[in-house]
Amino acid sequence: MQRDRIKKVLAQGRAGSQHVVCGWVRTKRETKGPAFVVINDGSCQDNLQLVVEPDTAAAALLPRIGTGAALRASGALRPSQGKGQQWDFVVADLEVYGEADPAAYPLQKKGHTLEFLREIGHLRPRTNTFGAVLRVRNALALAVHEFFQGRGFVWAHTPILTGSDAEGAGQLFQVTTLDLLAVPRAADGGVDYERDFFGRRAYLTVSGQLEAEFLALALGDVYTFGPTFRAENSNTARHLSEFWMIEPEMAFADLRDDMTLAEDFVRHLCRTVVERCEPELAFLARQYAETALPVAEIARLADARFAHCTYTEAVAELERASGGGRRFEYPVAWGRDLQSEHERFLTDEVFHGPVIVTDYPRQIKAFYMRSNDDGRTVAAMDVLVPRIGEIIGGSQREERLDRLEQRMSELGIPCEGFQWYLDLRRFGSAPHCGFGLGFERVVQYLTGMQNIRDVIPCPRAPREIGI
Ligand code: 4AD
Ligand code: MG
Repeated sequence: MQRDRIKKVLAQGRAGSQHVVCGWVRTKRETKGPAFVVINDGSCQDNLQLVVEPDTAAAALLPRIGTGAALRASGALRPSQGKGQQWDFVVADLEVYGEADPAAYPLQKKGHTLEFLREIGHLRPRTNTFGAVLRVRNALALAVHEFFQGRGFVWAHTPILTGSDAEGAGQLFQVTTLDLLAVPRAADGGVDYERDFFGRRAYLTVSGQLEAEFLALALGDVYTFGPTFRAENSNTARHLSEFWMIEPEMAFADLRDDMTLAEDFVRHLCRTVVERCEPELAFLARQYAETALPVAEIARLADARFAHCTYTEAVAELERASGGGRRFEYPVAWGRDLQSEHERFLTDEVFHGPVIVTDYPRQIKAFYMRSNDDGRTVAAMDVLVPRIGEIIGGSQREERLDRLEQRMSELGIPCEGFQWYLDLRRFGSAPHCGFGLGFERVVQYLTGMQNIRDVIPCPRAPREIGI
C-alpha cells in the first residue's frame, strides 16, 4: 500500500480507515499498557500519535525507536481518548527504517534556541518552527507565480552569471576560473581577463532588472523570480549574501502603476498565507508572540491600504521627532539615505503599518531611475513594513536617452557594456517601471522570524557558508 501523507490522513481519514504512514519520531511514551509514538512527516504542522499495543510484533521494535528515528506504520485511525489530538493511529504493522542514537541525536524534546539550530542546519527542518517557516515559504512562492500569471505577466529567466553591475553599488561577487596563484597579467600590469573563462570580468548577478527591462520592452509585462547575490558586508538580521528576489517589470506604466502593483502584490501574499497556512501562522504566532503578527493582523493587511509619503515628508517627520528629543543613532538630513531605524520609526510609530516612500534624492539612488522635474529627486518608491523596514525597492526607469547618458557620465559608469541598455532608449523607448521584492524579507515579515537566516534553508552571510 502507498503511504498517505499525515496531512491527508488527518483531513480525510475516518474512524477505522486504513493507511500507511511514514515519518520521524518526535516523542515516545511507554506505559504499562500501550506505547505512544508521535511522528511528523513534514506535510503539516500536526503530528500523528501511533498507538502500539503490548505483546505485538510492533511492540518488540520499541527499544529501537527513539526521537529522530524514521518509521513506516500501517494501521487504522481511532478517535483519540487522550487530550491534544483528535485521532490515534492504531498500529498493525511497523517497520523501522533508520534508528537515531538518543545519546547523539541533537534534537531533543526540550526546545532549542534558534542560534543552536543554525549550527545544525541539516536537522532544523525537522523542528516545528522550521517546518512551519518552510511551508509558508513554499506557499508564498506559489502565490508569487499565481499573482503574476493571473495578470498575464511572463516569467522571465534572467541570468545568474553577468558582466554588469545592475545596481551600480559595487557589491559584486566576482566569478573566475583563473588560477589565483598564477594570475595572468596584461601589458599594463593588471589582470589579463582576456584569459579568464568569459574573456572578460564576470560576476554573480545582484538583480535581474536590466535584463527584465529589455524583456518588458518586448513582452509588455514580465517578472523574474530567482536568486541574487550581494557581497555587501552587512552582518544584520535582514541581509543575506544570497537571497531570492521577485522583480516585475511593466512597459507603458509609471510610478503610480508600480505602487499599485506592489500594494496588490503584498496584499495577495498576505491573503494567500491566511487562506493556506493558518496552522503554521497560528503556531508561529503562539511560539514567537513577541515578534510574529497574529493571523488576524495578516488577514487585516490583506485588505489594508498602504500609507504613502514622499521622502521629503518622511525626513520632515524624522526631523520633527529628532527635534522633540527622539534619539536616532544615525543623523537625519535631507539627502542622506534612510537607515533601518528611521524606516522602522516611520512604520511602527508614525504610520502604524506599511508605508510607501517615494521620490528619493537622486544621489542616493541607482543610475537607472527616472529624474523628476525638480532635478533633485527620482521617481523611486520603497515599501516599508513594521519591524523589517524595506521589503520592496522600485522605480520608474529613465527612458530618455540623453538623460540616462548624462546620469551615467555623472556617476562615471562606462557606456561600454551598457550599449544594449542604451539601445532600449534608442529603439522604441517607452515609459516603464518595476520593483524588486526581497523574498526572504517578506517571509520574515509574515512568519515573525527575527533573523533572516531562519527563513532560508541554507543562509549565506559574511563569513558564513555552512551547508
Ligand atoms: O532595493 P534593491 O536593491 O532593488 C533592486 O535590486 C532593483 N533592481 C529592484 C527593481 O527595481 N527591479 O533590492 C530590492 C529588494 C529590497 O527591497 C530588499 O527587500 C531585498 O531586495 N534585498 C535584500 N534581501 C536580503 N538580503 C539583502 N542583502 C538584500 N538586499 C536587498
Ligand atoms: Mg533598496
